[in-house]
Amino acid sequence: MDYEVYTLCRRVLGEGMKSKINLFIKGGSFEMKHILVLVIGIAILMGSAMSGSLAQAQEGSADKGKELFSAKKCGLCHTVDGSGGKKGGDLSDVGDKRDAEWLTKYMKDPKSLLPEAKMPVFKGSDEELQDLVAYLMSLKKAN
Ligand code: HEC
Repeated sequence: MDYEVYTLCRRVLGEGMKSKINLFIKGGSFEMKHILVLVIGIAILMGSAMSGSLAQAQEGSADKGKELFSAKKCGLCHTVDGSGGKKGGDLSDVGDKRDAEWLTKYMKDPKSLLPEAKMPVFKGSDEELQDLVAYLMSLKKAN
């Protein structure tokens, strides 16, 4: 289990213990077992939601990347799904051909991977770069 998820579970379970005791004192009609099941359920839900958003923070958002692709004028030189420029080639299935690591490196410094590269160096934040790479990785023939 992720360390974050583990600590989160412990925190939620800790809260659960407190409310269990409260209910007990107030003479609530909930059975301990039910509360425990509920608390564990919530912990798992929150845990997976959190690790999901963590993964997204690392991998970037393909939706934002798609917006950036037009905002940064990539389409002037690149075709995706039949529209765009021809100079840079078709990127409609670049997600099948390249991996995220290659794309990230290439965008930062095209010449480091293709000595003859004519592609301009990407200008933008690391976050924007991650979003763009997430979008590029989503461009696959199978979709
Ligand atoms: C001025 C034209 C131009 C623009 C603008 C441009 N590119 Fe390119 N790009 C190229 C060319 C030309 C290549 C072919 C390889 C080379 O010469 O670097 C290329 C190659 C690529 C490749 C590698 C494809 C492969 O599998 O070999 C990716 C990925 C890519 N571009 C993404 C982008 C993205 C994302 C943007 C917008 C931020 C962008 N490009 C903007 C010209 C451009």
